[in-house]
Amino acid sequence: MCGIVGYIGHGNVYDILISGLKRLEYRGYDSAGVALVAESGQLNVFKTMGKVSNLEAYCAQKDTQAVLGIAHTRWATHGEPCDNNAHPHFSEDGKLAIVHNGTIENYQILKDALAEHGCNFYTETDTEVLVQLIEYIKVQNNCELIDAVREALKQVVGAYAIAVVERDNPDQIIAARKSSPLVIGIGDGETFLGSDGTPFVEYTKNVVYVKDEEIAIIRRGEPLKLVDFNNKESKVNVDQLQLSISQLEKGGYPHFMLKEIFEQPMTLTDCIRGRVVNGGEHVMLNGVFTNIDKFKNVNRIIIVACGTSWHASLLGKQLIQDMCQIAVEVEYASEFRYSNPVITDRDIVIAVSQSGETADTLAAIQIAKSKGAFVFGISNVVGSSIPRETDSGTYIHVGPEIGVASTKAFTGQVMVFTMLALSVAKLRGTLTEEQIKDFASYIVRVPELVEETLALDEKIRHLSLIYTYARNFMYLGRGYSYPVALEGALKLKEISYIHAEGYPAAEMKHGPIALIDSEMPTVIIAPKDHLYDKIVSNVQQIKSRGGSIIAIVTKGDTVIKELADHVLEVPEVPECLTPIITSVPLQLLSYYIAINKGKNVDMPRNLAKSVTVE
Ligand code: F6R
Repeated sequence: MCGIVGYIGHGNVYDILISGLKRLEYRGYDSAGVALVAESGQLNVFKTMGKVSNLEAYCAQKDTQAVLGIAHTRWATHGEPCDNNAHPHFSEDGKLAIVHNGTIENYQILKDALAEHGCNFYTETDTEVLVQLIEYIKVQNNCELIDAVREALKQVVGAYAIAVVERDNPDQIIAARKSSPLVIGIGDGETFLGSDGTPFVEYTKNVVYVKDEEIAIIRRGEPLKLVDFNNKESKVNVDQLQLSISQLEKGGYPHFMLKEIFEQPMTLTDCIRGRVVNGGEHVMLNGVFTNIDKFKNVNRIIIVACGTSWHASLLGKQLIQDMCQIAVEVEYASEFRYSNPVITDRDIVIAVSQSGETADTLAAIQIAKSKGAFVFGISNVVGSSIPRETDSGTYIHVGPEIGVASTKAFTGQVMVFTMLALSVAKLRGTLTEEQIKDFASYIVRVPELVEETLALDEKIRHLSLIYTYARNFMYLGRGYSYPVALEGALKLKEISYIHAEGYPAAEMKHGPIALIDSEMPTVIIAPKDHLYDKIVSNVQQIKSRGGSIIAIVTKGDTVIKELADHVLEVPEVPECLTPIITSVPLQLLSYYIAINKGKNVDMPRNLAKSVTVE
């Protein structure tokens, strides 16, 4: 949540900051701002409510000359989205400006204490408190900015990635992080800052991932310096950014979401590359084979995640239970972290996160580690916090997901869980070599079957017109299709703002069936699987109550075709692979309904891609 950018160098500071903010807009987009330090020792702060394009329009007539700067795109936590609460915030004497991603939990205590010393506050934000604190310490101690930042951060409880600039110093940016991401790009005579590497990918691939409680001193013409809160210098490790600019563009699609839906045949190919080998002869997920003893002797697996990743985890549970006969629990990371969980050193905790930065999932990892569990991460963003905090893990390798509603990451996560379950089944001997080979040979075909499913695009676009103005939706599925129902409902509500409920189909008769009438469409996920006959009865129950039905069925289905109002036929695959196929038409349905309603599917209201606050 919130994106921060910084730049010091010989380039056009303002242009670099604005294009960086646009890349980070997926992290929050209720307001945006820049702080620019000019050579003459002038600090200009420009900020506006709304998207980065509003900021650009606002700055069109301003003096944006600068030799360094910091910028921010906001997802509000403290104080409503408005010009005044937008970042950067500045100190009362106007000498310091700050951008911040995270939350200062003890801001009220700090604010009261500063107010007693005569500080005045002009915004409702926790961030203004931090910059005032830095200023106060600097003035009281007559010290350098770096010393004031260090002392201030010692007093702060919470999460932050910050960048601070000083009116009187056109040669320095101070940045720091704790529990919020911060990446520094090292260019040729120029240095970049970002919440991730996307703002500067075209300028440099040399990146430094700042660690928790590290402060970065970025000075013009000097090498980057990192110190801890005791001013002890730490080694600067330069990594290579694995990102290309084409991955950050829409590639001819009107929205990132549609691009990402259509990319799935390719992203699934990337996901299985090198892991399912010899045309489906073997499956080998490296993270499993480098931890053979852990997975062989595991007592129980607990999966922690949020949102769409939690839905993928429910499928992970089913896959691991079915293939490996290991007891698996799935927890919302936000609940797990406060649930005083009982964990032993024979448990494995799997943390699943597209962004690798979700605050609740990171906190769950800390708890699991503190209780002695081996923690395995499944992430998409290379170099993000979760892969670095976990004992081992694997990437889903689906490339940057920019649309706020997750699509290709979901199918990638499910695919990784499938390969993980097969790898562990091999180790534990719970599936025969023949069975593993059989599944693996299907896995390699999944990308082409997803491609085939995408051919439903036009049909779904037409169908969406019929349902655009429905006010509620029900999504039902059983077994492997139940998490797909949850995910389908989540996609619809996120981007179209239509209320949608996902339920296990058989639960319907215990309450939700009361909602069914001619104005409540139901989407039923009913591929040919071992629960097919059961779901046919559920379809009949809805039909006899006047409900209209859109059914996702296996090609050639005749029974549900007779009952449902609309059917979308998808290719046949083994039951455990159906979610990857059946989720695709649901992604398209949500997309088109939202588009018909004129919604911004890539930046839905109130949401942000990377949830780095609690
Ligand atoms: C839904 C969505 C969110 C995320 C959730 C977890 O489309 O994107 O529900 O799945 O915020 O995010 P990650 O996977 O980054 O931990």
